[in-house]
Amino acid sequence: MRRPIVAGNWKMHGSREENAQLLSALIAGVGACAAEVIVFPPAVYLAEVAALAQGSAVRVGGQNLCTESIGAYTGEVSGAMLVDVGASHVLVGHSERRALYGESDSVVARKFVAAQAAGLVPVLCVGETLEERESGVTEAVVSRQLDAVVSLAGTAAFLKAIVAYEPVWAIGTGRTASPNQAQAVHAFIRGYFSAKDVMLADHVRVLYGGSVKASNAAELFGMADVDGGLVGGASLKAEEFVRICVAAG
Ligand code: PGA
Repeated sequence: MRRPIVAGNWKMHGSREENAQLLSALIAGVGACAAEVIVFPPAVYLAEVAALAQGSAVRVGGQNLCTESIGAYTGEVSGAMLVDVGASHVLVGHSERRALYGESDSVVARKFVAAQAAGLVPVLCVGETLEERESGVTEAVVSRQLDAVVSLAGTAAFLKAIVAYEPVWAIGTGRTASPNQAQAVHAFIRGYFSAKDVMLADHVRVLYGGSVKASNAAELFGMADVDGGLVGGASLKAEEFVRICVAAG
């Protein structure tokens, strides 16, 4: 039985005051929930959010990290720095990083390796654009994104990683994949791993992301290969996010 995960990607939102309010409501609300709950605040707030979350069930992760571990990389944050301030997880290959900041499959793979080298659990985001879906290449795109990481990190690296399927057309658009659409790609991803290692495929948790809300979470999380969610907009509203966590388990 895979323990569900609900991850809240705050993106570039929040302030010290808002974060403290959101986090205390979350900690109070998710206490008895069975899902693993992880929030991803902006890097400058990570240390403070991690300190506030200490001793609670809520874990904290970074939204991005540098491919390198130390040196002359102005503006970058290393995996070791994220760990140092209390992060346990990090997002890798989010579609906004791929599309807006030009992160290629190979950069994403290097970030995945850098995350694990620092002791972080990478949450590898994959997913197709609307154009790719409409031209019938969803599986080819997802395979290519996974292949890049598998060829650099190896299959066994996924024992200590999480995968998030996030169709780009569903992110921030209010247009959620239907439970069947999500399940089809999740089953494909599990099959991808299963062809390499059956035990691993059974173990790896694959989250769905893209306009998850309290109103659609239970249906999505009820699908056989959906092990929870990566939630953007709805993770900024404590009550809504708590309802999503409860729906996961
Ligand atoms: P959304 O974002 O829930 O606002 O669609 C999901 C994500 O980008 O991780």
